[in-house]
Amino acid sequence: TLNNSTNIFWQECPVGKVERQKLLNQKGCVVWITGLSGSGKSTLACSLSRELHSKGKLSYILDGDNLRHGLNKDLGFKAEDRAENIRRVGEVAKLFADAGLICIASLISPYRKDRDACRAMLPEPNFIEVFMNMPLELCESRDAKGLYKLARAGKIKGFTGIDDPYERPLNCEIEIEQKDGVCPKPAALAGQVVSYLEDKGFLQ
Ligand code: PPS
Repeated sequence: TLNNSTNIFWQECPVGKVERQKLLNQKGCVVWITGLSGSGKSTLACSLSRELHSKGKLSYILDGDNLRHGLNKDLGFKAEDRAENIRRVGEVAKLFADAGLICIASLISPYRKDRDACRAMLPEPNFIEVFMNMPLELCESRDAKGLYKLARAGKIKGFTGIDDPYERPLNCEIEIEQKDGVCPKPAALAGQVVSYLEDKGFLQ
């Protein structure tokens, strides 16, 4: 990847990650939620953040849609722009994890190589990929923002799932699916992720 910086040096600070984690009584990590628009990423992110907060654990949500209002306002939706979007959010998520927080990233992140590049930024097992495996028909029928309708009408080009690809994860840590045609409730999903984080020792 492009790196135009030369003659730069890494500065160490005596207050390190271990000390911050001790202060917070938790371990920093990244919960990366991927899936189609309308698959419930943001709902899970909010529910998870609420659940962690009630347990006295500090988390922060990086939401793709929200970050496109600021940090990523210069980016569109072609493959290179999505790659840069994911790369930036991966770098920010890594900083939040280093700060000792449970960082919850919620982005479509349709390309496997972009998600895997974020995974590679963190040591195992600090990148937890959560796949919202919801059928396109369900996401489209919800259409909370009316974007699928516009995409079907050809008014939005390159919409994920319609005329742009979504590459499903091959090795995610958690996969969320419908059970007997019913979506699990957000609180139940948040509980599932919290249990995973507890098992891995992130919540101590
Ligand atoms: S990506 O693919 O990870 O870079 O996308 P992300 O940053 O998560 O932004 C997705 C939200 O942008 C809106 N939107 C689109 N999505 C997909 N394809 C196209 N062409 C598009 N144009 C706008 C949409 O509201 C997505 O929100 P979510 O929260 O996923 O529904």
